[in-house]
Amino acid sequence: MLSTECELLSNQLVAPDHYVMQILAPEIARASLPGQFVHLRIPRTMDPLLRRPLSVMLADKVHGHLRLLVRAAGRGTEIIVALPSGASVDLLGPLGSPFPMPDEIDGGSDKDVLLVAGGVGVAPLVCLADAMRSLDDTPYIRSMFGASTEDMLVCWTELAARSDEFSVATEDGSAGEEGLITEVLAGQLERGHARVVYGCGPAAMMAEVARMSAEAGVPCYCSFEQRMGCGVGACLSCAIGAAGGGYLRVCKDGPVFNAEQVDWEAIRDE
Ligand SMILES: Cc1cc2nc3c(=O)[nH]c(=O)nc-3n(C[C@H](O)[C@H](O)[C@H](O)COP(=O)(O)OP(=O)(O)OC[C@H]3O[C@@H](n4cnc5c(N)ncnc54)[C@H](O)[C@@H]3O)c2cc1C
Ligand code: FES
Repeated sequence: MLSTECELLSNQLVAPDHYVMQILAPEIARASLPGQFVHLRIPRTMDPLLRRPLSVMLADKVHGHLRLLVRAAGRGTEIIVALPSGASVDLLGPLGSPFPMPDEIDGGSDKDVLLVAGGVGVAPLVCLADAMRSLDDTPYIRSMFGASTEDMLVCWTELAARSDEFSVATEDGSAGEEGLITEVLAGQLERGHARVVYGCGPAAMMAEVARMSAEAGVPCYCSFEQRMGCGVGACLSCAIGAAGGGYLRVCKDGPVFNAEQVDWEAIRDE
């Protein structure tokens, strides 16, 4: 894990309240694996005091660039997205457990990989699809992306370009199927030939993705975007319930978990 002051190369508005930031961070880019995140702070300021966790959307290991997708969700991220190109950002990372590659899960299979993204949850799945594309034995990737409206399908081209099949659903029907992305997943699971499901998005979406995958007998890995404090396992502000009791720290034990590790009932009740 490295803590470095890095240059913000560009910061582009890609949808209302959503920005893609490109950062020069060669060591972190080289070390980062899909599903890992950086903890970002603005140097020489106390506002925001705490770092904010952001998934690596793409790591260009050759040029040393990191690409992050940032939604202005509150005070901290509003300050972050207002930074101009050339500004400095202090990054701690790469942090957290990465997504296991399909072969690490099942030892090898000709079945398909299913990716299910909701909102900014698309970011770590773009990174995962990108890494799978560079494997010698690239799996067939069926991706799904859900959002409230077409506008909120941020960076969909990044995911579509790295997928063999790509479907979208919007709650208002402005793009793709009208409804929830889990309804699209239901059809994809019914088709069969699924090897593993990877998901990232709102907790309610992931609870449903985990339930449906378990019912279909397909392994499922989810990445959580929990509220964080220290980011290094000390404060427990990111804890979620563990299946069988106890808790899991999203920052240290995750953010990626095998769905079987998680107490989904507790998450549904939150
Ligand atoms: C591992 C990880 C990866 C993440 N990756 C990304 C990413 O790639 N892009 C991105 O835009 N965001 C990502 N997030 C979420 C992002 O870190 C939060 O949106 C951010 O920390 C909020 O800070 P803030 O000061 O802007 O908002 P705050 O002022 O702290 O909160 C604003 C509002 O958002 C709610 N909120 C705060 N944090 C979260 C959260 N984590 N989840 C849901 N609601 C929250 C608060 O309750 C409040 O209503 C990730 C989070 C984690 C843990
Ligand atoms: S954020 Fe402090 S333990 Fe996870």
